[in-house]
Amino acid sequence: MARILITSALPYINGVKHLGNLVGSMLPADAYARYMRARGHEVLLICATDEHGTPAELAAAAAGKPVAEYCAEMHEVQKALGAGFRLSFDHFGRSSSARNHELTQHMAGRLYEAGLIEEVMERQVYSNADGRFLPDRYIEGTCPNCGYERARGDQCENCTKQLEPTDLINPRSAISGSSDLEVRETKHLYLMQSKMRGKLAEWIDTKIDWPVLATSIAKKWLNDGEGLQDRSITRDLDWGIPVKRGASVWPGMEGKVFYVWFDAPIEYIAATAEWADVNGLGDAAWERWWREDRGAEDVRYVEFMAKDNIPFHTLSFPATLMGTNFDGAEPWKLVDFIKGVNWLTYEGGKFSTSQGRGVFMDQALEILPSDYWRWWLLSNAPEGSDSDFTWEGFQGGVNKDLADVLGNFVSRVTKFCRSKFGEEVPAGGAYGAAEEAVIADLSARLKVYAAHWEAVELRKAAAELRAMWVVGNEYLQSAEPWAVFKTDPERAGAIVRFALNLIRLYGVLSAPFIPDASEAMLGAMGAEDAGWPEDVAAALSALPAGHGFKVPDNLFSKITDDAREEMAARFAGA
Ligand code: 2FM
Ligand code: ZN
Repeated sequence: MARILITSALPYINGVKHLGNLVGSMLPADAYARYMRARGHEVLLICATDEHGTPAELAAAAAGKPVAEYCAEMHEVQKALGAGFRLSFDHFGRSSSARNHELTQHMAGRLYEAGLIEEVMERQVYSNADGRFLPDRYIEGTCPNCGYERARGDQCENCTKQLEPTDLINPRSAISGSSDLEVRETKHLYLMQSKMRGKLAEWIDTKIDWPVLATSIAKKWLNDGEGLQDRSITRDLDWGIPVKRGASVWPGMEGKVFYVWFDAPIEYIAATAEWADVNGLGDAAWERWWREDRGAEDVRYVEFMAKDNIPFHTLSFPATLMGTNFDGAEPWKLVDFIKGVNWLTYEGGKFSTSQGRGVFMDQALEILPSDYWRWWLLSNAPEGSDSDFTWEGFQGGVNKDLADVLGNFVSRVTKFCRSKFGEEVPAGGAYGAAEEAVIADLSARLKVYAAHWEAVELRKAAAELRAMWVVGNEYLQSAEPWAVFKTDPERAGAIVRFALNLIRLYGVLSAPFIPDASEAMLGAMGAEDAGWPEDVAAALSALPAGHGFKVPDNLFSKITDDAREEMAARFAGA
């Protein structure tokens, strides 16, 4: 049994997330955690809302609410939606928590002691129209790297380049749109990431098993020196974690807060401390996940995120953690495996809140149960390249995979059994050659399925699971219990017993993807044992003759063409 720490990139607090955000980190992290728990590992799955920075301030202003109140409300909204999608977080925290304030200030103090923080007189964009500095997203303009016209002051989302507001061409205020801007001087703290270059490069070189997407982005920034420019970690904003060295004041930094990207990843750790707090556990309980001198040396730490987050997780956050351990006194756990994914597009374009384009998490749950979305999103995850959500593709995935292949199998088997043998597993005879062949086939496929999960290959795991459902269908089709029943009811009973056992097995194997349907399958089969099948033959005899079962409600309904067209029109955007 291993110990696996899993974090999902923290969703920004500024509004309900869309399906692309969901499949970018939270959903794959959940599915992976579910699989690893099912295999008996000790898993801790952590996520939180990312509450600081300009996105939070801008969204609160747009909602006409004080930012603290806005964040508290949106946190509850996001938490409820996560629960609606069955995201099995051990803790869903808040980056504005007291724990994160304390830990962020502590780490800044350590970095200062290490000589890795310097005070720099910065030239910052000041908006005369708005009467304030315009950090990060408060400013928009053209990316100097790729020419994208809506780049933000902190990062170009088109080419992932990290930017400073003064880098933008044709800059304008995101608050007022004003281009009456000037550059003023203000003092800020810089994290001297360039001093960590050698250490980071050496560390990344050991990560030979990372997906190419993660290492290529990390190496690109490392070798350009781009991602390792010394970067400002403070901002002239009201909302955020006040700049302090541990608990002491930081002279000259009054009224400033830490940059959101400095405190957000630290929240992975702080949220684990929040988890310990709410569960009445002491510090040792969270430290054994994060401190290599306090039990975390055998933890495997896996991070999930979309590709624009990769530079922060491969370079900036490790630099913070390595720097904090400058004297060897605080060995924080560094990531072992990064699962970065590409973008999900919506009908060939971008999701857009302002244009009402694409499906957002709240809308999705109003339309269809979470399993439908989970299945399509995970089985089409943008792993090797971007993938595109289309209503036709979604309809196809739901109708063919879920309704025709899995749902239909469950319904045919249970209804046939009820009509001919009643609601009990029939005795019948022993399993024969046909069943042995299925056992051999599924045993081989189960190994492949496990290997895909170990490699965090979601689409491949989904395809293998679907193939296992197909094996059951083909078996039923060729064994024909309805025909056999007329001449040899004993043999028909054996076939049905085997098929009912397949339903239980599918309930166990499908849970990482479709937890509700899995629960329905296991519940209907009255399965007391939902443990992972170490041996397929044994698993397919788990339900003995005479064991009671129920015919479940239809597991999945098909999406009609009319419904599809209606939804496509509803979410097409202005
Ligand atoms: O890109 C985003 O959505 C960020 N809120 C992710 C933060 S991940 C972590 F570092 F906190
Ligand atoms: Zn760009």
